[in-house]
Amino acid sequence: MDSIVVTGNGALSGAIPIAGAKNTCLKLMCAALLGDEPLTLTNVPNLSDVKTLTSLLESLGCEVASLQNGHAMVLSASEVTNRVAHYDIVRKLRASFNVLGPLIGRCGEAVVSLPGGCAIGARKVDLHLDALRAMGADITLEEGYVHASAPRGLKGAEIAFPFVSVGATENTMCAAVLAKGTTVLKNAAREPDTVALADCLRAMGADIEGAGTDEVVIRGVDRLHGTTHRVIADRIELGTYMIAPAIAGGSVELIGGERRLVGALADKLEEAGIEVADSVRGLTVRRGNAPVKSVDVTTAPFPGFPTDLQAQMMALMCTAEGTSVLEETIFENRFMHAPELIRMGAEIDVHGGHATVTGVDQLKGAPVMATDLRASVSLILAGLAAEGETVVSRVYHLDRGYERLEDKLRSVGALVERVRAE
Ligand code: EPZ
Repeated sequence: MDSIVVTGNGALSGAIPIAGAKNTCLKLMCAALLGDEPLTLTNVPNLSDVKTLTSLLESLGCEVASLQNGHAMVLSASEVTNRVAHYDIVRKLRASFNVLGPLIGRCGEAVVSLPGGCAIGARKVDLHLDALRAMGADITLEEGYVHASAPRGLKGAEIAFPFVSVGATENTMCAAVLAKGTTVLKNAAREPDTVALADCLRAMGADIEGAGTDEVVIRGVDRLHGTTHRVIADRIELGTYMIAPAIAGGSVELIGGERRLVGALADKLEEAGIEVADSVRGLTVRRGNAPVKSVDVTTAPFPGFPTDLQAQMMALMCTAEGTSVLEETIFENRFMHAPELIRMGAEIDVHGGHATVTGVDQLKGAPVMATDLRASVSLILAGLAAEGETVVSRVYHLDRGYERLEDKLRSVGALVERVRAE
């Protein structure tokens, strides 16, 4: 397996282009199943997760043509020839569970593997299934698969989610666009990814109001048509590279970055003494000579602080002056980076959903590994500030979500290298 070697090399300087958003793109790809005309996506990130979902969509009869070196794609689901999403793929990529809404919405039938738990938590899908049941779908669970059927089509319903779920909001929204009547989603996710999905569905002819608020109203239409849609900038990639100059020092411009995508992070960085400013091409983040101050962080659904940036923020807090408390409220097991950061000399005490981090003067390079995407990248960030060499293994996690990570960091002066396994 490949590994990435990071050698602490002081301040960063330059610009990093931000790719299209992975989590937005994956849901848009699933939505292509709703229409019989081509959906063209541009600003597609060239990532292994996108390739994995491509195979699943192809297995359902959707033709996928990759263009511009993987940065654009045309998805044509003129016919859905298979309604079974197999465990082999769904287990690799949870986002593939989001073919359920489009399949049942368009075909009145779907068999989709349950995704199972994963490293960061149990990640149930009960909210997805309850919402479809409320819309009249008959749902059974057999041998690890969800069998959903609504032979006469789904019916609009009022669905109040007990807590915010990005995936359930998006799956239900897709199911509702072709349903008979009006669906109202209460306590809906307000993530930019969810708003982008609604924008794309509207461009395909759907009638959706209120995306970006906690109440979304979807009036069913008979049919969707094709469109071309540009994937928004990846706010988690953006946030990750905003933390890079904060931890290593220096100044980096994030091309394509927008403050509205990462408002909660920008506020916390400013509270910690880091400058965040709009620039002509995006956002610029600069750390001056003063030490970084400790700040407390609690993860929350958008517009709160994203759980997907908690690990990276923890890496920053390991080098800050003072003590900070990071509280994880979204996933029950998302501190797996803590023991690895401790291997690098960090002082972290994890107790339930809280981690207390006391900043140290200097992190030290060490061999480390992590079991999920964001945890892995937090170790790379820590490596930028560490003395000596940090070797991060299990790099395949990073390849799921960060396009050309080494190139991007090298272009701003970091010493980062991939060591290919024989
Ligand atoms: C999405 O996951 C993202 N993935 C995650 O990004 C992100 O961390 C998460 O939203 C929160 O922002 C994609 O978009 C592909 P949820 P999702 O449903 O939709 C519980 C990354 O690193 N829950 O909002 O699966 C669930 O277990 C990934 O890019 C239920 O209990 O997240 C969690 O505790 C990781 N029942 C909470 O709700 C359900 O039916 C929020 O999950 C659904 C969710």
